[in-house]
Amino acid sequence: MLPSQRHLFDIPDDVTYLNCAYMSPLMRPVIEAGHTGLVRKAHPWEITPDKFFSGSEEFRTTATRLLDCTADCVAIVPAASYGIATAALNLPIQKGQSILVLAEQFPANYYPWQRMADDCGASIKVVVWPDDNDWTSAVLNALTNDVAIAALPHVQWTSGGRLDLVRIGAACRKIGAALVLDLTQSLGALPFSVREVQPDFAVAACYKWLMGPYSTGFLYVAPKWHEGRPLEEGWIQRANARDFTSLILYSKNYDAGARRFDMGERSNFALLPAANRALLQLLEWGVAEISDTVGTLNRKLAESAAELGFTAPSEELRAPHYLALRRKAGIPQGLPEALARQRVHVSVRGSSVRVTPHLYNSDADAERLISCLRQFENT
Ligand SMILES: Cc1ncc(COP(=O)(O)O)c(C=O)c1O
Repeated sequence: MLPSQRHLFDIPDDVTYLNCAYMSPLMRPVIEAGHTGLVRKAHPWEITPDKFFSGSEEFRTTATRLLDCTADCVAIVPAASYGIATAALNLPIQKGQSILVLAEQFPANYYPWQRMADDCGASIKVVVWPDDNDWTSAVLNALTNDVAIAALPHVQWTSGGRLDLVRIGAACRKIGAALVLDLTQSLGALPFSVREVQPDFAVAACYKWLMGPYSTGFLYVAPKWHEGRPLEEGWIQRANARDFTSLILYSKNYDAGARRFDMGERSNFALLPAANRALLQLLEWGVAEISDTVGTLNRKLAESAAELGFTAPSEELRAPHYLALRRKAGIPQGLPEALARQRVHVSVRGSSVRVTPHLYNSDADAERLISCLRQFENT
């Protein structure tokens, strides 16, 4: 169990922030790294051409430690949507085949597939919300031969349901389906390994559980897709980009591995050092330790919330860091606003109250939420 890390954050004592799934607060050292990065441009003459590459390579290398892959397999992207669009541009599909998604899947991992299906005469196949909350079995049952692409998360974002991606990855390989993952609601808080799951593409935006700034993210691309087509035909992704004097000797060759899929201006001097600092802090804590610590808090919260009639998927079926509380009577109108007036912050997604703590939260925060829910009930 990790001790409280609240001292690293600028969270006033009377604020109970239980909404990391919306966006994490930035840590003080992350803000410092971002500030240092931003002021570098006050002296552009010090940003020499080699610096266009070093910062982004550092970020890419740190990302490999969360993904469990090599730097050649990581592209730098501004959003989960960008990564999913890259996957959709490259994966083949034929008329009559289908693309598998979950019920209530986050739209960034839905719209590109809907477009692809419309364009190719394929269809979207939706895994319906399983009555027993067992998303893994529901996905495994839906992985029939018609599925060309399974576009999935590690954690279903409105239920907190966890998917066993190792089993799902193996099932995809068996039927020859590609596996595309949106890890935005899990990477950094739930252990994951590319080596174990073997996805084709896996993306994560950094501003939630990776604790970085907005507009940063990374995309894992399996080696078999490294010859693919990037969304942008930029200059910085080319093999000759490091030689600024010869950029107009246009090259058809791209930089190594997944770097061809990097976004334009990927050498973001302000944001990447901040994102990198956040990743390093997570790695220092350890993802498994974060998951255990936050999971323990959520376990207590789930038990207390049960007394108020809220249910959540059982511990075996949900992600420890991600508690989605539902109630037969539904979620009362105005609940998040009423809580926010008391400086308790959660969100409602679908028909769940989503409670997503991190290392800045304590038992006292859990008790405050429960007490506010009880008060709301009695008004
Ligand atoms: C599961 C999931 N994926 C992705 C995103 C964000 O997508 P993007 O980075 O394209 O804005 C969110 C934001 O809430 C999310 O919950």
